[in-house]
Amino acid sequence: MFLYVGAVYVKAGHITIGELIIVMAYLAKIFGPLEAISDSINGIQSSVASAERVFSLLDKDPDVPEKPNAVPVSRVKGEVRFEQVNFSYHDGMTALRDISFEVKPGQRVGILGTTGAGKSTLINLLTRMHDPQSGRILLDNRDIRDYKLGDYRNLFGVVLQEPILFSTSIAENIAYGRPGATKEQIIAAAKAANAHDFIMSCQDGYDTLVGERGMQVSGGERQRISLARAFIKNAPFLILDEPTSAVDIGTEAAIMEAIGRLMEGRTTFLITHRLDTLSKCDLLLHLEKGRLQEVTSGNQPDLLENKIKRFKKQLA
Ligand SMILES: Nc1ncnc2c1ncn2[C@@H]1O[C@H](COP(=O)(O)OP(=O)(O)O)[C@@H](O)[C@H]1O
Ligand SMILES: [Mg+2]
Repeated sequence: MFLYVGAVYVKAGHITIGELIIVMAYLAKIFGPLEAISDSINGIQSSVASAERVFSLLDKDPDVPEKPNAVPVSRVKGEVRFEQVNFSYHDGMTALRDISFEVKPGQRVGILGTTGAGKSTLINLLTRMHDPQSGRILLDNRDIRDYKLGDYRNLFGVVLQEPILFSTSIAENIAYGRPGATKEQIIAAAKAANAHDFIMSCQDGYDTLVGERGMQVSGGERQRISLARAFIKNAPFLILDEPTSAVDIGTEAAIMEAIGRLMEGRTTFLITHRLDTLSKCDLLLHLEKGRLQEVTSGNQPDLLENKIKRFKKQLA
């Protein structure tokens, strides 16, 4: 094809045979790379897709607008109140119905419920990933929609079942919790998260790359990196959504110990399949089918134990 076009050009006297040969030689040279490029486009496309996923997580959800006169969050006491909150996802099915409860600063709130009950949804409303269709959520007596969104979300350290790690060094993955963190702060956070030892045993220590191009980390290691991220963030609220569900039994104890330390001094919302952990809660919310079925106070340890036992039975 190129040769044909070239020959026509030569015939017409636009270029010489010599020039045509040079052009052909160059074409041959770039042909290989072109092929390589088209091969990697698939790869690039999937990278773009994962970048989009990351950005969609980081971006302000268009569902959740910031008011033009939103107030900055300065000091928080940490009192949370849900008032008759109703929420459904776009499909119109009600995920939460008429949820009301109150949390005092520093309390530990356990959330019970079978799969699909609405536990994660409740957390997503609290962190303003979505806004309720009706009712409101208050922080320190103020509707959370009144606060500047970035400030507000910054109040939460979040540890999920499947933490998101970026394809970069372990140090940077931890520092993501606090941009500009020093090496010392990163190491202190890793130690608090029981992650320091395994990090030091990696080939490049804190500079070890994780993810697709680097080291594959186990569920337990992944979770300890995300705990270190939460330690370094040092946020007043802590969300733990089934933090040990994807973790091998061997590392569960180390993770639970680190979590115990992380919860200290923070208002914590804890969703866990480890029901024994819930016996130390100040407040236990039992959700089923989007409704708050029962609220149990930790003031009465007997009632709390009884509640957990009854739930265990329900599961069995
Ligand atoms: N992003 C979503 N879009 C639509 N429906 C969802 C979404 N997330 C959860 N749901 C639905 O909302 C209900 C509550 O889910 P979820 O809060 O994840 O429950 P839990 O965390 O208690 O297992 C379920 O019926 C679930 O299918
Ligand atoms: Mg969930």
